[in-house]
Amino acid sequence: MTLILGIETSCDETAAAVVEDGQRILSNVVASQIDIHRRYGGVFPEVASRQHVLSITPVVEEAVVEARVSWNDLEAVAVTYGPGLAGSLLVGVNAAKGIALGCGLPLLGINHIEAHIYANWLPPLPPPQLWGGKRGGGEEPSIVFPVLCLVVSGGHTELILMSGHGQYQRLGGTLDDAAGEAFDKVGRLLGLDYPGGPAIEQAAQYGDPTAFDLPRAWLGDSYNFSFSGLKTAVLRVVKAHEGQLPVVDLAASFQIAVVDVLVEKAKRAAQEHHAEQILLAGGVAANKLLRQEMARRSDLPVLCPPIPLCTDNAAMVAGAAYFRYQVGYRSGWDLDVIPNLKLGSSRI
Ligand code: KG4
Ligand code: ZN
Repeated sequence: MTLILGIETSCDETAAAVVEDGQRILSNVVASQIDIHRRYGGVFPEVASRQHVLSITPVVEEAVVEARVSWNDLEAVAVTYGPGLAGSLLVGVNAAKGIALGCGLPLLGINHIEAHIYANWLPPLPPPQLWGGKRGGGEEPSIVFPVLCLVVSGGHTELILMSGHGQYQRLGGTLDDAAGEAFDKVGRLLGLDYPGGPAIEQAAQYGDPTAFDLPRAWLGDSYNFSFSGLKTAVLRVVKAHEGQLPVVDLAASFQIAVVDVLVEKAKRAAQEHHAEQILLAGGVAANKLLRQEMARRSDLPVLCPPIPLCTDNAAMVAGAAYFRYQVGYRSGWDLDVIPNLKLGSSRI
């Protein structure tokens, strides 16, 4: 039995978790700063890092207490060291170093994008939900490589082919805004609450997705994405409807425009690279339309993390760390934050 303490502070959630053998969550504590950043309509980096400083100790302590383990039971400390906001990442990395040194444990720096992907391995009970595709009938989902990962969050929109644990090939990504960022910016244009993703999803329930014919940036055969034109198109509609904005119709039309591009590109990438499954990850993977459309339009099984584990948390960090720990990966005490860390050609 391997117990790993995971720590996540890359953006605006201070999180700590204890996970057993990469799959059993013993505790998962997330202190969200959303209420603090709401007044700015987005994450204010300086405020975020100060808030992490205030929250990190109680959050880690709570994770250990809630897991009903002692510090001596832990086998390693894992922490997100990038990508993310430098000042925020530093708080988590330094806390992790202190704990690891103090307890005599190894330290593992984990890539945040990889951690999002490993949310699909959590937790076995109940198993990650399997949507549509070839499997079904109560059969437990298991991940079969190669898998095509669509990682969509506030900071990333990445298509990654994963051919084994720790083996990634980046096929494409966004050229401008990330999918979640587009949701957040359009949410602001529509006068909706922050963050825009869940607010747009909620408003869109009551809207007509065919009300506005918004642009889809296909970018030819590439696996890249662009959402800035779509955002500008929404702005144009907003300006044209001053005073009587059809918020729910616009939310629904925007949501389907994003989902169309994400689903079609992921589907084509999976086919062209002979993937066995498609795996969604990141905050935007919580979007029900994306989950449903991906499953409906793909012939392959589509796996999604449980909704609460799509957005930032530390269970996914400890989960990803387990698989790296097993093959001997360790970080040095000189581990530094890498705000623009990529995932794409690493092999462990
Ligand atoms: O993964 P995450 O917590 O943080 C980053 O790593 O960026 O993702 C946060 C992003 C935000 O942009 C938020 O608007 C979006 O995920 N999001 C959603 C939904 N829930 C969160 N977007 C669309 N639909 C949702 N239900
Ligand atoms: Zn994230």
